Amino acid sequence: MPHADHRTVDFFAREALPAPRTTPAEAELLAARHLGTAARAEALGSQQDANFLLRDGDGTALAVLKVANPAFGEAEVEAQDAAADLVAAAHPGLRVATVLRRPDGTPRRAVVESGSGPAVARLLRHLPGGTLSGRRHLSPGTVAATGAVAARVSTALRDFRHPGLERVLQWDLRHADRVVERLAGHVTEPERRAAVLAATAGAWSRVQEVAAALPVQAVHLDLTDDNLVRRPDSPLPVPDGVIDFGDLTASWAVSELAVTLSSLLHHDGMEPHHVLPAVRAFHALRPLSAEEAAALWPLVVLRAAGLVVSGRQQAAVDADNAYATGALEREWRIFEQATRLPLPVMTHLVADAAGYAAPPTAAAPPAHPLLRGLAPDRFALLDLATESDAMDGGAWLGADSPHTGTTHTDSPHAGTTHTGVERRAAAAVLAGGAAVARTPYGRARLSRTPVLSAVSPATVATGVDLWPGEELPAQAPGAALVLTAAPGLLELAYDGRVLVLEFDAATRPSVPVGAELRGGEELVRLPAGAPARLALRAADGPTVPALVRPEYAAGWLPLTADPAPLLGLDATAAATATARTERADLLARRAAVFATVQEHYYAEPPRIERGWRHHLVSTDGRAYLDIVNNVTPLGHAHPSVERAVARQLRRLNTNSRFHYASVVEFTERLAALLPDPLDTVFLVNSGSEAVDLGLRLAAGASGRPDVVAVREAYHGWTYASDAVSTSLQDNPNALATRPGWVHTVDSPNPYRGRHRGADAARYAPEAVAVVDALAAAGRPAGAFVSETFYGNAGGVALPDGYLAQVYAAVRRHGGLAVADEVQAGYGRLGEWFWGFEQQRVVPDVVCVAKAMGNGHPLGAVVTTREIAERYRDQGYFFSSTGGSPVSSAVGLAVLDTLRDEDLQGNAVRVGGHLKRRLRALADRYRIVGAVHGSGLYLGLELVRDRATLEPATEETAELCDRMLDLGVVVQPTGDHLNVLKIKPPLCLDTAAADFFADTLDLALAQLGHGA
Ligand SMILES: Cc1ncc(COP(=O)(O)O)c(C=O)c1O
Repeated sequence: MPHADHRTVDFFAREALPAPRTTPAEAELLAARHLGTAARAEALGSQQDANFLLRDGDGTALAVLKVANPAFGEAEVEAQDAAADLVAAAHPGLRVATVLRRPDGTPRRAVVESGSGPAVARLLRHLPGGTLSGRRHLSPGTVAATGAVAARVSTALRDFRHPGLERVLQWDLRHADRVVERLAGHVTEPERRAAVLAATAGAWSRVQEVAAALPVQAVHLDLTDDNLVRRPDSPLPVPDGVIDFGDLTASWAVSELAVTLSSLLHHDGMEPHHVLPAVRAFHALRPLSAEEAAALWPLVVLRAAGLVVSGRQQAAVDADNAYATGALEREWRIFEQATRLPLPVMTHLVADAAGYAAPPTAAAPPAHPLLRGLAPDRFALLDLATESDAMDGGAWLGADSPHTGTTHTDSPHAGTTHTGVERRAAAAVLAGGAAVARTPYGRARLSRTPVLSAVSPATVATGVDLWPGEELPAQAPGAALVLTAAPGLLELAYDGRVLVLEFDAATRPSVPVGAELRGGEELVRLPAGAPARLALRAADGPTVPALVRPEYAAGWLPLTADPAPLLGLDATAAATATARTERADLLARRAAVFATVQEHYYAEPPRIERGWRHHLVSTDGRAYLDIVNNVTPLGHAHPSVERAVARQLRRLNTNSRFHYASVVEFTERLAALLPDPLDTVFLVNSGSEAVDLGLRLAAGASGRPDVVAVREAYHGWTYASDAVSTSLQDNPNALATRPGWVHTVDSPNPYRGRHRGADAARYAPEAVAVVDALAAAGRPAGAFVSETFYGNAGGVALPDGYLAQVYAAVRRHGGLAVADEVQAGYGRLGEWFWGFEQQRVVPDVVCVAKAMGNGHPLGAVVTTREIAERYRDQGYFFSSTGGSPVSSAVGLAVLDTLRDEDLQGNAVRVGGHLKRRLRALADRYRIVGAVHGSGLYLGLELVRDRATLEPATEETAELCDRMLDLGVVVQPTGDHLNVLKIKPPLCLDTAAADFFADTLDLALAQLGHGA
């Protein structure tokens, strides 16, 4: 097509571009007259054009009518349409707002009078689904998808050439310095204006260092959340559509990604590290060069600065444009996030994401070791890591927080930091005779980790802490210039870096500022007992905090170096940049030796190496609130269990054919917890074994092999317990693969089953009918097995009277009632110690496990002597480790502690409080369909529609990932994986319950589920 008009826009010649003032009525007229489409027009927002959605008489969206800004020439518009066609052809999986064509193939495009001069109007393909606009938090999958779209557009446009690309746009980051300079005056607050100018200057000079090496090509340059369209069929935001090529130009190719990244930064809960998945996704499809990686974050900053100044200018010249004025706050948030960390930190972080991480560096061995006269063997390593023994017993939370006192009082340590543990650990290390204790560089430490924090704490050390056991003279390691000399602080220019020595604030250095030192000159005498810190940072870099957050460690650490060689020591082998790699490697090793059926929580799980009470602690030094561990009712690492195990292991551990006291005491205690006539106990090691044995006992006593089980239940993985398990998440083919002896009844789920609410009373008679029908067919069931409180459904109580009716039916035909109490039993329900108490029944066989051992493998079957005696007729029982001395000691310790710490009472109190808090969330978030459960056995069911109960499966998975980021471990359950299973250690306190509810509230709001 000939380009009738080669005029292109030049921002610096004519900067202000108010959008054309076309009304919907005018739009309808010009669509009909010039573009061959009669339709109703609805105005859509735009900063520089006039956009309308055209609908036909039924309201069906036909097209988008775009009246380009009159400042744009025809060639520019043609280039935009050609670029859209190119992207669409290159990536059929992407939906692209291409120009619509007439039957003869010509584009529906025309020059019209816009009211502010001739302008190009055209019809573009309308992409349904809505954009990623708005404040909603974007999870890593969505973020990665934005990077992938940007990469696809970039690859499609790589070789595109067109006269319409030769324009001078204010958005072209090659002009960012001039644009900001020209428009900064519109930022009227002096502080903000200064911040924008300073950030621009810094970012611009960084870009200039690599500018010559940055490839230039056609770029869309506006692949923002506003122009990325969501897949209409996906419940989560997944961009697969691209609109608005209005800023198409030739520029640095990497700008494409910078624009996308900056647009993500204003979303709720987003901070800079959250956009890294987009960098990785882009890099995977369109590799960034090292120079592009170096330029990327400075370009994000320049884009942010450009948005702020342009937004202010647009609002000034076009005060009626609500689209432009509404964006101001958002643009400022983008700028704040883009500049939240020093530029070099973000640059290194991006380089790391793109695989250009600088290797860890260390000081060169000096002529004069910093601590005069100290041989390496006078140093002792002070390990404050999560895995360190010094952190045992909750020491990281301070001396006074172990499992003491009543557990239902709120923790006094929530949110506080302690260095007491560091002092104690240092003293313990020095007691071994070392002159100084020193911490490793680059490693995460746990000693200052708060609990119940929605933000990860700064844990990674950027230097080395020294705890002198005696007075130690520090000397210049070589020629150095004193930059700072103040009580408690020395900074030296040394060997191309800044050496920082912090020490006791009452101690003065021996050298003045400005002194030029020779190696060996005394710097300061470090007093005994007062901690000091030694660090090295880049001479031209920012000040580096002593501890940095793990997410940003790969950005900060390259600005530092391991100072250990200055002390005559070897550098730390594993700096945190590699701790993340270690975690990934471990996961890969796990995958290599595990079958895929052995899953792990989370796609990118934190490495959990410590637990304490209801907290789980990662090797990054983050404490997560544990909402899922029902196997540890007392809390993690409970001292009573640890002591019982250690004491018994020192003394004896063997099998229960030997005669020792603990197994007898434990079985007596267990039997005493059950009503008559349940008085005979078998000890095993797991719930699966318990259910398996329970079924065999029933078969032996009844003489009948057939079993009736409830659908959508899980009972274990052994042959028999698996045979009666039909939950789809555990086995998608569950119902089809049942052996002939298993018969199922409807899942008695009163919330989402076939009978709901009051109608749930119908489940029992229907189950009775199945039991009766089996008997009538000559195959009476030997057992009916079910949970006593419905776990797989998310902790739902069975309908009133359900078990009474079904138990009666199965017994009428000579079968037994087998109760699976593996999850529900042992006090978790609060009001009832056993789930069958809630149903007011007494089973014939009770299967117990999980909570019994607080994580130690322990299971039991309790039944009547009569039933137990019949087992001999057809089976053999011996469990090598079931009821071992250690297991029995553990079992007793757990029962003692449950009683002594009143954990069942705590489940009533804290569980009741938590359930009220969760119910309040249901009032505010429509996605919360129901709050199930009792005590600390709760379920929060998420639905897309409260009438149809369509399960919000993907939303639940996204919520769990968000919760992890916010410091909570919670997981989905149920056949649709749409129920948050809430079964924390029973020591959960009110502060933790409130933190969970508050965090859930925050996450639901951030993910856009409000109102
Ligand atoms: C209700 C129920 N029964 C039995 C089992 C099997 O227990 P285990 O994993 O100890 O073998 C489970 C485990 O999740 C369970 O939830």
